[in-house]
Amino acid sequence: MNDMTPTREQREARLEGMGCKRKRVEDIRFTQGKGNYVDDVKLPGMLHGDFVRSPHAHARVTKIDDTEALKVPGVLAVITAETLKTVNLAWMPTLAGDVQMVLADGKVLFQNQEVAFVVATDRYAADDGINKVVVEYEPLPPLIDPFKAMDEDAPVLREDLAGKTTGAHGPRKHHNHIFEWTVGDKDLTDAAFRKAEVTIKEMISYHRTHPSPLETCQCVCSFDKIKGELTIYGTFQAPHVIRTVVALIAKIPEHKIHVIAPDIGGGFGNKVGAYPGYICAAVASIVTGKPVKWVEDRIENLTATSFARDYHMTTEIASTKDGKVTGLRVHVLADHGAFDACADPSKWPAGFFNIVTGSYDFPTAHLAVDGIYTNKAPGGVAYRCSFRVTEAAYCIERAMDILAQKLGMDPAELRLKNFIKPEQFPYHSALGWEYDSGDYHTAMRKMMETVDYAGLRKEQAAQREAFKRGETREIMGLGVSFFTEIVGAGPSKNCDILGIAMFDSCEIRLHPTGAGIARVGSKSQGQGHETTWAQIIATEIGIPADDIMVEEGNTDTAPYGLGTYGSRSTPVAGAAIAMAARKIKAKAQMIAAYKLEVHEDDLEWDIDGFRVKGLPEKTMSMKDICWAAYNSVPPGMEPGLEAVSYYDPPNMTYPFGAYICVMNIDVDTGVYKVRRFYALDDCGTRINPMIIEGQVHGGLTEAFAIAMGQEIRYDADGNVVTGSFMDFFMPTAVETPHWETDFTVTPSPHHPIGAKGVGESPNVGGVPAFSNAVNDAFSFLGSTHIQMPHDYWRNWKAAKDLGAVA
Ligand code: CDP
Repeated sequence: MNDMTPTREQREARLEGMGCKRKRVEDIRFTQGKGNYVDDVKLPGMLHGDFVRSPHAHARVTKIDDTEALKVPGVLAVITAETLKTVNLAWMPTLAGDVQMVLADGKVLFQNQEVAFVVATDRYAADDGINKVVVEYEPLPPLIDPFKAMDEDAPVLREDLAGKTTGAHGPRKHHNHIFEWTVGDKDLTDAAFRKAEVTIKEMISYHRTHPSPLETCQCVCSFDKIKGELTIYGTFQAPHVIRTVVALIAKIPEHKIHVIAPDIGGGFGNKVGAYPGYICAAVASIVTGKPVKWVEDRIENLTATSFARDYHMTTEIASTKDGKVTGLRVHVLADHGAFDACADPSKWPAGFFNIVTGSYDFPTAHLAVDGIYTNKAPGGVAYRCSFRVTEAAYCIERAMDILAQKLGMDPAELRLKNFIKPEQFPYHSALGWEYDSGDYHTAMRKMMETVDYAGLRKEQAAQREAFKRGETREIMGLGVSFFTEIVGAGPSKNCDILGIAMFDSCEIRLHPTGAGIARVGSKSQGQGHETTWAQIIATEIGIPADDIMVEEGNTDTAPYGLGTYGSRSTPVAGAAIAMAARKIKAKAQMIAAYKLEVHEDDLEWDIDGFRVKGLPEKTMSMKDICWAAYNSVPPGMEPGLEAVSYYDPPNMTYPFGAYICVMNIDVDTGVYKVRRFYALDDCGTRINPMIIEGQVHGGLTEAFAIAMGQEIRYDADGNVVTGSFMDFFMPTAVETPHWETDFTVTPSPHHPIGAKGVGESPNVGGVPAFSNAVNDAFSFLGSTHIQMPHDYWRNWKAAKDLGAVA
């Protein structure tokens, strides 16, 4: 070895593989304003479409008159449900097995519902046209309160379902009922409650909120009449699924549909499903023969595209006197709005809510979810969450604190007492999941030691005494949360979308010079896939991450994948990437053996190539193998070095984390101060620690927003009263607390690289930490549970109701 020969450390560092804090390659374009978003797509002759929307939450549409609109200079067409009926597209199927109006068909069912689509030469003309479309409405009584949806005299919302006693998920109990979903052993659970020494029961609501990504939902549809081909540029989290859905409903052959998702400014579940804007832009392009762009504005995004949460969870825990849990019973009233447009895997009407047993060893549990219709926007998307996991984690984490309060136990100690133990993994939960791996006690104790939990409790006790003496008007809360996530949808045995198994895919091609391209079925919306996917390949096959280009989002070039949401990319696509790389490595080994004139079994892998066992100087680098793959492969072998993997995961992955929030609340003003927030995450093998930290910061900021103010709220008439960023809490750097992050590593035993997802964990674990902090503070004044969001006014109101404020 001469001085110029790189050391092993240098060779490893050069790869920038897994574990490296590699800088995000996509930021080179993003930070210079050089991203290519849908609104940057400008095609020759492109037209613009915009919606006439309903001012009413519930009304009959008696007349739509477009005469004056068509006189507006630049307006070319006004599309209504009647137009769409001529191509059988007035209604579209939802991912949840329901149907949804594309444009108002006889009735409107929520405020800002799409009524007509005006197509014009520019956006301004379209907007002028909208104002000239005359729509006559006959208002009907709105149904806003989900608890009244199944009253006998509740208004009938979905007249199209009249007489239908079964829906996509079984029997319907009422004209506004969608489904009932039950899991678990009811008799055993009821028996556990009968025998219980202590029980708690609380209705815990997770209010309606909205993902509100930076870039709203948008598309450009371009139909080529000559070729009969439709090209759609759009903000799609799952481009291949969109292609299949368009093929099925528009009856265009799937190979003649090209879906391209360029750069996307955030998704958070908002961009999984199909919206009327996509259908109308496609129809408008077919009708006019020109490309048509649809870009929604912020108010439209907040009020009409998919909301998140709106789960009302009556939760009961049975326990022994000394705090060992013996049973869990949960009933959820799920408000789905006007149509059931939840983006869940087909067989899961309440997503993975049955992870509600959380991190605790419940011997038995029973869950029932009733989905209902109201006059609100449809949706129910996984806003940084795997299909209702966020709701489930909030439910159990609040309930455990309520139990601790009743037992007079410390909430952290109660958790430690009931955690699933490391030796119980793989763990079969009472509601049907098999948790892959975990070490909850280590994570919890690390959190408690790092923040000096015992010291904080002492400080809180002193603070409470000071409050009693009138020396302070602040109350202090410690919000502990320990969550178990379920990410990586999912195994084909239990997960599909419209019948398509939820696998994911990767195709890797290495070029002669040792550089290559990886095309993946996932689609980044800011998570940094271009950076991290190359890192997996770098470690697996010894090609520097910088020499691998990652491409996603074009259905013509990427292998079929189910897209990115619910932190499924690393568990599923990440595994496909590793498996494709391993196929390449196996072929590379054969080529190296041939070139080095040894048997394959005599070779061993060494960072960036193969070496002959026992002869360390006899090596062949991956770069040289790439060249050989194109000029001197063994006789009978096909040239080239590429591989494809479609990965069907054997199980989900179960990341977890221990969070704590330390908060002071001024009872006279309701103003809170987040004094400290510590988040320990365990996502198994860590691909890029810097990106993980960024993901955690982002998710915690969203959790902070949701718990402390962010809400889609309706008045009694069904008007959205938080329809813009003036009213919908969107924290900036000024309000956002400082985040402390930490980790443990418990690899997934079934994932090829041991990685679990992480993107949504901080949202899942963060919300209960904030809410538990507020509730812990108020428990001192005698309260058991205060509903979110905990904004200043509600905090002040709680203090007043509890008698702390005159
Ligand atoms: O599906 P989505 O990309 O939203 O979520 P994810 O799989 O949790 O990944 C989010 C980002 O964190 C990606 O860039 C991952 O590669 C990265 N990540 C990581 O570096 N290590 C992990 N164990 C999990 C995710």
